[in-house]
Formats: sequence, C-alpha cells, structure tokens
Amino acid sequence: MLVLDGKIAAAAVKDALKTKTAALAAEGRRKPHLAAILVGNNGASETYIASKVKNCEETGFASTLLRLDENCTEADLLKIITNLNQDPSIDGILVQLPLPKQIAEQKVIEAIDPSKDVDGFHPVNVGKLVQGLSTFIPATPYGIMLMLEHFNIETKGKHAVVIGRSNIVGRPMSILLSSNLKHGNCTVTVCHSHTPDLKSFCLQADIIVAALGRPGFVTADMVKDGAVIIDVGITRVEDSTAKKGFRIKGDVAYDEVAARASAITPVPGGVGLMTIAGLLKNTMQAYEQRAN
Ligand code: GUN
Repeated sequence: MLVLDGKIAAAAVKDALKTKTAALAAEGRRKPHLAAILVGNNGASETYIASKVKNCEETGFASTLLRLDENCTEADLLKIITNLNQDPSIDGILVQLPLPKQIAEQKVIEAIDPSKDVDGFHPVNVGKLVQGLSTFIPATPYGIMLMLEHFNIETKGKHAVVIGRSNIVGRPMSILLSSNLKHGNCTVTVCHSHTPDLKSFCLQADIIVAALGRPGFVTADMVKDGAVIIDVGITRVEDSTAKKGFRIKGDVAYDEVAARASAITPVPGGVGLMTIAGLLKNTMQAYEQRAN
C-alpha cells in the first residue's frame, strides 16, 4: 500500500517553481505576485490563508494579504477587486471562501479578471476547463492531478467515483478525470447527497475521490480491494486532548480503508498541501501569461 504523501509531491512542485523564481531573480525580473483577500476571521480560513502566504514566501513569490472586516459591504470588496484587476504588479487574485452572508459569492467570483483568477472559479475559466482549453484549474483538483502525476498513478480506462459536486472540488475533479489529459481518461461517476445506495457505486470504483465534508464517511465496506483513495476532507472535529482543541479529519476512515487500498492520501498531509501547490502553479502561469 502506497501512502500518497502530499509533503513529498508538493515539495517537488515547489522545488520546480523555486528554480523558476530563482532564474527570474537572476535576470532582475519581478516576482510573481499573489493578492489574497480574507474577509472576517473564520478560523479555518485564517489557517488556509496564512499557509498560502507562507508558501508564496518559501517559493520566491510576492504576496499581499488584504483583510476586510466581517461586516464589510459587498461594494467594499468589489472596489478592492477592481483595484487589483487594474494593478499591473498583481498577477493572481484570490478571495478566500466562504464569505459572510451579506456578500454574494458569485458576484465576487465574476468580478475578478479571468486572467488573474488563480482559483479558476470564474465562469469563463470553468467554461474553458469544460471544453478542455488552457485555463486556471481550481487548486484542489489541480493539486490532485499533480499528486497522481507525481506518484505515477495510472488512470486511463479506470472507473473513478467522485463523491461531492461542489464548484470548488467535485465538479471540476469529475471533468479533469474524464478529460483526455495524461491523468484523465477515466470513466467517471459523480455521487452526491441524492445518490441512492452510494456504497454500490463506490464498490465499483478503481479510484475514489471523497469530497463531501463528512468525517470518516468512506468506510472499508465501501471500497474494492486495490482501489486508489483520494481524501479531500478537512473537517475540524472537537477534541479536548488536542493542542488546539480540535483535530483535522478526512472524509475517509483511514486505517480500515488503507488496509484495503493500493494507495491512499493521509489527512492531514495529503491533498491539502497539494491545493497550495496547485495555487502556486496557477500564479506562476498567470505571471507568465502577462507581459513582464
Ligand atoms: N475555500 C475552500 N477552498 C478554497 C479554495 O480553493 N479557494 C478559495 N478562494 N477559497 C476556498
């Protein structure tokens, strides 16, 4: 059984990017620059954003973190996005989701210039993804594709079951796995909250991508021997014995499923680290596509 270690795969992606940023520095060129916007102080979002900023630094990217109050208006946020769209020193713009309820998420996503949309959430970029055109692939599915590539996991002709149909993970993941990319060419089944007898679909899967946000949902009795298991879950579960009072739990019951799988991502230390690798790759791509 192979543990798909996100630390190893993400380090490989980051090393390649570091080589590029070092070459840019040697030529006296500016750094790729990510602007990240955090609204409010949701604990999980704070952690993700801090990690994105830290990874930018480690890879030789510039980053700017803009913080807005929980009670800010939609107009405040849209104004900031307009300024960043027009700022030639900014390559990528990321608005951490979820947003407070007074702000319409879709309006914000559509306000970002598609050429700076390193999350790949703008409908123009989603449309390109669906049509197999070059675009920004949403960071988590992108990271999973990079993980499959790093560990040379064969996907061609395999049956992949994606659990979850979110715009951030499940839907783009299903499109990528069914695409004719090197680590695509799967037959894909998308399961969700209205799928009856979800277990029967999972039992047919050569690859399971669990992205539903229910800790421990995928159990050993749902998994075929030798399946590849990708766990996207990162739920905070209260635990008074843990240092921070919570633990991060994946969507897969790791120990029992690992005993049956041919390969599995751990949580933490799996897909989460690859999401950041995907984001950094997109930021470099945005930079390279701009006239520097
Ligand atoms: N919230 C959860 N995942 C993501 C992501 O990939 N990008 C952004 N911007 N927000 C998120």
